[in-house]
Amino acid sequence: MIIESILPLVGSFQDQVVLVTGASSGIGRETALLFAQRGARVALAARRRDLLEDVAAVVRGAGGTALVVPTDVADPAAARAAATRARRAWGHIDVLVNNAGVLKPSTVAKLRAADLEAMLRVNLYGALFMTQAVLPAMERRGGAIINVASLAGRRGVTPLGGYCATKFALIGLSEALRTEVDAARVHVGVVLPGVVETPMVQGIDQAGALPEWPMALNMPPEWVAAAVALAVRFRLHEVSVPPGAALLEEIAALAPGATDALIGWMQAAGRLLSSFSSQPAAVSPPRSGPPERGRRRTADTPARARTPRAGRRRK
Ligand SMILES: NC(=O)c1ccc[n+]([C@@H]2O[C@H](COP(=O)([O-])OP(=O)(O)OC[C@H]3O[C@@H](n4cnc5c(N)ncnc54)[C@H](OP(=O)(O)O)[C@@H]3O)[C@@H](O)[C@H]2O)c1
Repeated sequence: MIIESILPLVGSFQDQVVLVTGASSGIGRETALLFAQRGARVALAARRRDLLEDVAAVVRGAGGTALVVPTDVADPAAARAAATRARRAWGHIDVLVNNAGVLKPSTVAKLRAADLEAMLRVNLYGALFMTQAVLPAMERRGGAIINVASLAGRRGVTPLGGYCATKFALIGLSEALRTEVDAARVHVGVVLPGVVETPMVQGIDQAGALPEWPMALNMPPEWVAAAVALAVRFRLHEVSVPPGAALLEEIAALAPGATDALIGWMQAAGRLLSSFSSQPAAVSPPRSGPPERGRRRTADTPARARTPRAGRRRK
């Protein structure tokens, strides 16, 4: 319903060339499909060729134009090759969407350097390498670079400390780039989603840390795709999904200690409520098997996942 009312604003991208990283799954897949539906020629970059071919088949089946570009964005040579392939096919790149990302949840206390490195290689270096691959031509011809960060890139939350660090870094990189380029030619925007129902969220261990966040409130990836397209269309610097959701993080940055305390109280309240809601276990046989969907914790969980009030606002 909401998405239908927003989509007309996206307008046409007829014949524009849009390169989307992480196009094999989740948000990237939906973003590529949305641009293709709006007339763009889409270059689909990710590692899993078979899934990219599926996306390309959907695009072509609807009369659109797609190019499959198997790419590991963490490899600078592969990033350059992906941009070169798109340019060889269509002459130029109008829009780069740096969306590829990985998430390895861990408390900071237990965060393994190898896991942080793996996230940095994709979430930060991948965006850097792809940006460097398209920027010189884009500075001559014009275009847009949209980086998919996260609300977790504006406020650190556990157990996502390492992931938050990569997204904070991506936002910093984006803001710096914006001041480097001629804004009239190259638009640089960031999109900050909350919790989105994608394989990233579905794929992590959801059993323990955030039982108070109901997965039923996760947003569909189409919302983020629309935000990316709107960021290009209206040259928006920062779009949170849902709109305005980053405001709490920005206010929180003014008083970080007070915010930590507030979050701690809310977590304690959430745990207390959870313990009440699990009371029936005393009269029911213990559950085996997977937790109920509504009680599973989420992966990319900014403050809202730890603060039920904020979460409801964002949803
Ligand atoms: N889901 C959320 O709640 C949420 C919230 C905020 C922000 N985000 C961000 O949104 C973006 C998309 O995430 P998603 O939720 O759609 O997750 P997803 O379904 O797991 O998709 C991740 C994508 O990244 C690609 N990728 C991973 N490593 C790559 C590499 N080395 N080279 C090229 N591509 C790579 C994957 O493709 P291959 O495996 O085929 O390479 C896949 O297409 C990520 O940046 C994520 O951090 C997600």
